Amino acid sequence: MKYILFLLLPLFLYAQSSFITQEEYAAQLYKNPRGIGCQHCHGDKGEGRVVAKYIHKKVEKSFAGSAINNLEYAAFYKALNSRIDSMPRYFLTPKEISALYFYLNADKLKKAQALKEAQEAQKAKEAQKAEEIKRAQNTKNVQETKKVSEPLKVEKVLEKSKEENKTQKVEDVVEEPKEITKPDETIDINALFKEATEAKNAK
Ligand code: HEC
Repeated sequence: MKYILFLLLPLFLYAQSSFITQEEYAAQLYKNPRGIGCQHCHGDKGEGRVVAKYIHKKVEKSFAGSAINNLEYAAFYKALNSRIDSMPRYFLTPKEISALYFYLNADKLKKAQALKEAQEAQKAKEAQKAEEIKRAQNTKNVQETKKVSEPLKVEKVLEKSKEENKTQKVEDVVEEPKEITKPDETIDINALFKEATEAKNAK
């Protein structure tokens, strides 16, 4: 089917711009090719048709044209360029052959085209969505990086701790420097005191 679409695409695109005329032309050609109309043997829509029933040597026989609305394009094309028993030879141009094929398979081709368009639209939509997600993710990353690199402000930390644990006291959160609150046993308090007084006096 892909192969057929490829072959018929120019015709199809042309047909889309003037769909009715093209369809009418193809229908006309089918019913009035330079010779006897195809419908007489293959049916109005190429569905196949029994043309005549007859008795031959006491056996009932029929003359029928097969369904030609379900062929691959290559087979259709080849048939119209070959000698077929009981079928007139038409000498149609390639354009005429594809027009006939288009007439016989218009519904299928239109459906296939619509499906293709729908699939392409869906693909485009998905790609756009993916792009949006990617962009959103990038923005988020940038924001997070900014957040992390922002200098930690004591107020902010306190704020956060307060939010996280309302019962927690600010004093608990701010860890007091150990050197001051828990003096080492080895430090001579008197000496420190003396040092401090001297420093004060020196001013
Ligand atoms: C006088 C009757 C008759 C007419 C008119 C006729 N055909 Fe046929 N066609 C046949 C017969 C008989 C066969 C061979 C048996 C079969 O496949 O039906 C055949 C075979 C074919 C095949 C091959 C089918 C296959 O399965 O491979 C195609 C395609 C075809 N015809 C197309 C056309 C087209 C298009 C037209 C009009 C331009 C046309 N025919 C006009 C009788 C006719």
